[in-house]
Amino acid sequence: MSEKTADTIAITGAFSYTGKYATRLLLNRGYKIRTLTYHVDRNNPFGDKVQAFPFDFDHPDRLIQTLRGASTLINTYWVRFARGKTTFETAVQNTRTLISAAKEAGVSRIVHVSIANPSAESPLSYYQGKAHLERAVIDSGLSYTILRPTVIFGLEDILINNIAWFIRHLPVFGIPGDGRYSIRPIYVEDMARLIVDAVDQPGNTICDAVGPETFSFEELVKLIAAQLGRPARLVHLPMPLAYVATFVTGWFVRDVVLTWEEYQGLMGNLLAPEGPATGQTRLSDWLAENHDHVGRRYASEVARHYAGSSQNRPTVR
Ligand SMILES: NC(=O)c1ccc[n+]([C@@H]2O[C@H](COP(=O)([O-])OP(=O)(O)OC[C@H]3O[C@@H](n4cnc5c(N)ncnc54)[C@H](OP(=O)(O)O)[C@@H]3O)[C@@H](O)[C@H]2O)c1
Repeated sequence: MSEKTADTIAITGAFSYTGKYATRLLLNRGYKIRTLTYHVDRNNPFGDKVQAFPFDFDHPDRLIQTLRGASTLINTYWVRFARGKTTFETAVQNTRTLISAAKEAGVSRIVHVSIANPSAESPLSYYQGKAHLERAVIDSGLSYTILRPTVIFGLEDILINNIAWFIRHLPVFGIPGDGRYSIRPIYVEDMARLIVDAVDQPGNTICDAVGPETFSFEELVKLIAAQLGRPARLVHLPMPLAYVATFVTGWFVRDVVLTWEEYQGLMGNLLAPEGPATGQTRLSDWLAENHDHVGRRYASEVARHYAGSSQNRPTVR
């Protein structure tokens, strides 16, 4: 093993979604891994190859201790929506604390996962918060790669999987508005490769993480329905009505299905930046291979991050 591949990498969320795929690849490439998580006791698929430490945002000294000796921090930490004490503002503050702790601990590089089309002027808190954090990464003085994904698809993904789940379970599918706005998803293993390749890249880069195919939302729903062998019975709904429908559905599935901001981002074409593809896997091919599995189980964001919490914040399970 070369000296370089024995580096220690700190990564957030190794037991969660994107972080799990990146961790698998990092281990294959010989890195030593530490993870930061709210779920240190969650089922650890990597055994003793991955050491888990809590997100000690309230104790930066402990965060520094956790990060000391790591050469790179890979940061996937973020929240999809505000809930209870967790807000976009606290997520921004926590991430700033993490970046400062990394610098204090002697970490030299950060690979930061952002979002396509972040903007400090955006009225959408998700996109605005992500833009502020890109600025914090750039200003940190650490060398960096910032990756800007759109929707990251894979078996545990929320959006594509849950569209499939709704198509399997409901007689009609509601398309918000005209359905012509675009979406350009990237496969989770391609995303993981971009993250892990960035560990060794020199200098500072900002890069969209996008797949080779762009669909209108309506095309995407029709494609999923066709792969599932279900009739695509679509009904176009004004966006506020579609939002209310998903809000109510959320009570039944005990989740937040899609937020008002996510509707705005989707329908505002923020999920389909132009430019060269950085992921190779075609969603249409992946769906053809995985049509038996996709949408079999509803993927709940609330169950993933808030289950068992009486305080509306993630707890250690
Ligand atoms: N998934 C997508 O389609 C998508 C699209 C665009 C951008 N992104 C960005 O890609 C990154 C990874 O996304 P992902 O979907 O793979 O995330 P994830 O694995 O579900 O979570 C990533 C990290 O954030 C923490 N986290 C997530 N929700 C949280 C909450 N409500 N409260 C506290 N901590 C929370 C997780 O904590 P635990 O370790 O305790 O689980 C984990 O460490 C994020 O920065 C996201 O903004 C994702």
